[in-house]
Amino acid sequence: METPTWTAYAAACLATLSLFLLTKYLRQRKLNLPPGPKPWPIIGNLTSLAPSLTALSTNSPSSMGPFCNSASGLFFAVVVGLSAEMAKVFLKSMDFNFVDRPKMAAGKYTTYNYSNITWSSYGPYWRQARKMCLMELFTAKRLESLEYIRTEELQSLLHDLYNLTGKPILLKDYLMKIEIISRMVLGKRYLDESKNSIVTPEEFKKMLDELFLLNGVLNIGDYIPWIDFMDLQGYVKRMKVLSNKFDRETWSQGFHPGLVGWWNREFSSDRGMHKATEELDRVIGQNRWVQEKDIPNLPYIEAIVKETMRLHPVAPMLTPRLCGEDCKVAGYDILKGTRVLVSVWTIARDPTLWDEPEAFKPERFLGNSIDVKGHNFELLPFGAGRRMCPGYNLGLKVIQASLANLLHGFKWSLPDNMTPEDLNMEEIFGLSIPKKIPLAAVIKPRLAPNVYSA
Ligand code: HEM
Repeated sequence: METPTWTAYAAACLATLSLFLLTKYLRQRKLNLPPGPKPWPIIGNLTSLAPSLTALSTNSPSSMGPFCNSASGLFFAVVVGLSAEMAKVFLKSMDFNFVDRPKMAAGKYTTYNYSNITWSSYGPYWRQARKMCLMELFTAKRLESLEYIRTEELQSLLHDLYNLTGKPILLKDYLMKIEIISRMVLGKRYLDESKNSIVTPEEFKKMLDELFLLNGVLNIGDYIPWIDFMDLQGYVKRMKVLSNKFDRETWSQGFHPGLVGWWNREFSSDRGMHKATEELDRVIGQNRWVQEKDIPNLPYIEAIVKETMRLHPVAPMLTPRLCGEDCKVAGYDILKGTRVLVSVWTIARDPTLWDEPEAFKPERFLGNSIDVKGHNFELLPFGAGRRMCPGYNLGLKVIQASLANLLHGFKWSLPDNMTPEDLNMEEIFGLSIPKKIPLAAVIKPRLAPNVYSA
């Protein structure tokens, strides 16, 4: 018998592909898929996800409906939840069907083949790791017993800042040095200025920036699997390089620099700053630093943190979820294997939920019970449901105490007569969205001199 030639192979492949596409097309014709931009053949709506997800994130729900269905690639759809109502379905009422994570390059290459909790599949490994996290690291008792570490780290930051009085500083660089997680988990600092340091603070900062960026980029190979091997954007190569540099324990170290940096710009209005310092002077006085236990007595500070998290969520899109079984959501068919994104960014700017959504107004949180702990689907900086951030309690404590003390201890202004209008507000989209040009500020002490020397 004659050996089949490569043309025969090609024809067979083409026939299989056509059959696959035809079956898929016929099946989809009968379905009521969520609305969204019209997909192109082969690449689906990838063009509406690229060049960055920000384009999608910033479209208001009223213009796109509660979903954006992006049938990208041939193999799976992407559904983006753009309303609080949809977030509630995916993260709470039907959480069990959306609890898994899709396999994506970021999980494979930056977290040792999906071995960290964030990217690992739903199953015994994830359950065990998450249980350990919640029972060992984040119990109220454990967090309380390790409060001294958070206090020492924050004091060291405040001390460093005091020595820079009058000089322009990049707050982000100093926040990066806070080493709460490594001290809590490993019992040692990851960075120090000595020769024994594992990496220099500058290298570490670059690694974290890269990690956050690569975890949020739109890697085309994740959506069109057959061109994955080409690594057209070079992201996979960068992920591999980064993974070699990283040690397993460094994850989530940089969880708050971006966020605390943001209040700084938003809050340059004298009126807001005055309200915050008035509260701090009244409740704390000028002779001591703020402690974690003071926070419940500082509602305006809590409101600033919520407002900063609303406008500048650390993760503008929650880490993707995977639809486990075909199901119906709001009358639409969502197919097994669909990747589900929830745009926290868009929800936090929904004009039907928020009055003047683009304005920085901490007052909106005074006198109501909206919190950030996954109960209020209009505000989800830590996600919600089974995959909600297990470190939210620690994250909140650190952010609230840092912000309160930065405002309490120093008067903040822009360098060289810069005005808020001069600030460059461009953002880099990744897992978090830091400003393209980090903000420089000049500080002046506000408290009694003995507080800084203690
Ligand atoms: C400001 C601080 C933080 C913010 C805003 C934040 C935000 C988030 C968000 C949005 C998610 C995705 C949730 C979802 O998919 O629904 C997440 C997941 C996660 N976070 Fe955080 N996080 C913070 C701090 C921390 C800290 C301090 C830790 C641990 C030391 C941590 C560990 C994790 C883990 C392990 C997951 C994955 C959970 C899972 O998939 O089961 N986070 N975080």
